[in-house]
This record gives sequence, structure tokens and C-alpha cells, in this order.
Amino acid sequence: MRVGVLTGGGDCPGLNAVIRAVVRKGIEGHGWEIVGFRNGWKGPLEGISRPVGLDDVEDILTRGGTILGSSRTNPYKVEGGAERIKAVLAEQGIDALIAIGGEDTLGVAKRLTDDGVGVVGVPKTIDNDLGATDYTFGFDTAVHIATEAIDRLRTTAESHHRALVVEVMGRHAGWIALHSGLAGGANVILVPEREFSVDKVIEWVQRRFERQYAPIIVVAEGALPEGGAEVLASGEKDAFGHVRLGGIGTWLAEEIAEKTGKESRAVVLGHTQRGGVPTAYDRVLATRFGLHAVDAVADSDFGVMVALRGTDIVRVKLAEATAELKTVPLERYAEAEVFFG
Ligand code: F6P
Repeated sequence: MRVGVLTGGGDCPGLNAVIRAVVRKGIEGHGWEIVGFRNGWKGPLEGISRPVGLDDVEDILTRGGTILGSSRTNPYKVEGGAERIKAVLAEQGIDALIAIGGEDTLGVAKRLTDDGVGVVGVPKTIDNDLGATDYTFGFDTAVHIATEAIDRLRTTAESHHRALVVEVMGRHAGWIALHSGLAGGANVILVPEREFSVDKVIEWVQRRFERQYAPIIVVAEGALPEGGAEVLASGEKDAFGHVRLGGIGTWLAEEIAEKTGKESRAVVLGHTQRGGVPTAYDRVLATRFGLHAVDAVADSDFGVMVALRGTDIVRVKLAEATAELKTVPLERYAEAEVFFG
């Protein structure tokens, strides 16, 4: 049997741990040949692949990124894309595919399954916003990196009596902001799930300064001030002067400086949250996902994604996997508010 594997979408720490597990169990447990497709769905679309053997995965457990490369290519947005993939898979004698990715990659996996290709999905995203699994690997690493940054920024903020705004990733879900903010003892946490009042933020910041401490504000890149979503939806590029998705941290730091008269700085953590060595938790979760994906292929149980429920790895239908974005429930956010100000 020849089984293809690919990684699609934004990279995330732990992808190589999945590939390693698939290769180890596929080759040693089943005697399969494992074929790595390059750069997400671009690989099977363009027929770019190579066999992946035991030696190829020897040293990759701890390595960030993906040895296969990734892309956001969606074959359903390319004329005749799905047909081309089917032809390439037939040419290369591929019996099944393991697709490791987020919402988009898994959405393609679902459609290909409907079109008759045997695909098993493995969820990944640092954002932890896939509804069908309790956790995705990459999230724990991202939270660790953001928390370490907050710890470091706190000492310099205290020395200079400045407000420090830390912008973390999370366009639609504030999981990284909430967890790193809680772990780092942030004085304000802002998430996309709830528009924030700038006046309230200023109040919390002032209170912190009055107590002679430096305020740390953690803001998810997708968080918006009150009315922001409406303005963005109306198509206006320059909401509130210069509020844009991705620029919220800098904007907020400027607002704070202007309204409090105190020095304020913004730090955008960006892709540092996606790079480098995965945490032990992510290595274990990614490894377990890889092993269970191989089991699903061995059972010819296609159109499913492996998922974490409690401490068990289960299989869920790909349709269910991509149906719902898991956002931060407001009661979880309310827990953090105790520490604001
Ligand atoms: O989905 C993962 C993610 O890291 C988001 O948190 C972020 O908004 C986005 O990818 C960044 O994408 P890109 O790497 O294409 O800039």
C-alpha cells in the first residue's frame, strides 16, 4: 500500500512529529510506502512528491515547521484542480492520503473524500479554534512563547513605567490571548469574541499606573473596539483613523499614550508564535494524532479526522470537523476579567 502525506495551511510546531509518527507506524507497523507531497495541496496538484523513509524522520521530532513544506493552495479554487489531484494520485499509485491542516486543508480533504479519494485528516492550528477537537497541537507552544514574551516585557515595562501592549495571533478566536494573558498575569486581555470599550481599557490602565505598576495589555490581532466590526464590514479601510486587522496593538498603544499621557509601546509577536521547537505537550499530541491517523487508514475509515476528546483520541467526520469555529466562550473570558486593572 502507498500512503501519501501532506501538510497544508500556516505551519505550526508539531507538524514534523505527526509526519514522523505516520512514517514509523506506516512502515514498521504495516509495511506501507509513505510518499510525502510537497507544499500542501500544491504537491498532489502538481505531482511533486518523494518517498519518505525512516531515516528522513530520524531527527525531526523536535524541529519546528514541516519537512514537507506548506501552502494555502486550494485545488477547488483552481480550474479542474480536483480532477488533476485524482489523476496524480492514480498515476503515483497512492491508495490513501493523510492531510494535516486547519480549516481550509480539512475542508478540501472533505470535498475530495466526497469525490471518491480516501483521505484521513489531522487537525493543526496554533489558534486552537477547530470545533471538533478539544486541543490542536501548536497551541501549547504558541501560548508558551507568548507567555515568555509577556514575562520579559513586564520587567522592562516596570523599569520604565510604561504600558506595554502585546499583540498575539488569533484573527477569529482569542484562545492564545486568553491563555497567555492569564499565564502571564496580563492586566487587560482583549479578544475578537468581544468588542472592547477603549474608555474601559484606559480606566484599567490608569488604575494600574495609580498603583505604581506597569500595565500589560494582551490583545489578539482580531480584537476590535466597539463598533469596529460594523465599520470593517462596511468596507471602510481606515476604521477609527487606522484600526485594521493586524494593526490593533499599535493603534491601542497610541490611544493609551494619548489618553493617559504615559509612555506606551506595542510589541507584535507575529510569526515567532509559530516557529521553533514544539513543547512536550504538543509533541505528544501530534505523535498520537499521527499514530491514530495511520489506524484510520488501516481500517479504510476515510472522510474522518482524528481529534482529542478529554484524553482520548477519537475519529470525527470531516464534515463535523470543519463545521464550526471554536471561539472563546464569554464565561471563560469573564474568568480573566477578575485580574484586569
Ligand atoms: O491560522 C494560523 C495563523 O497563524 C493565524 O493566527 C494568523 O492570523 C495567520 O495564521 C497568519 O497567516 P500568514 O502566515 O499567512 O501570515
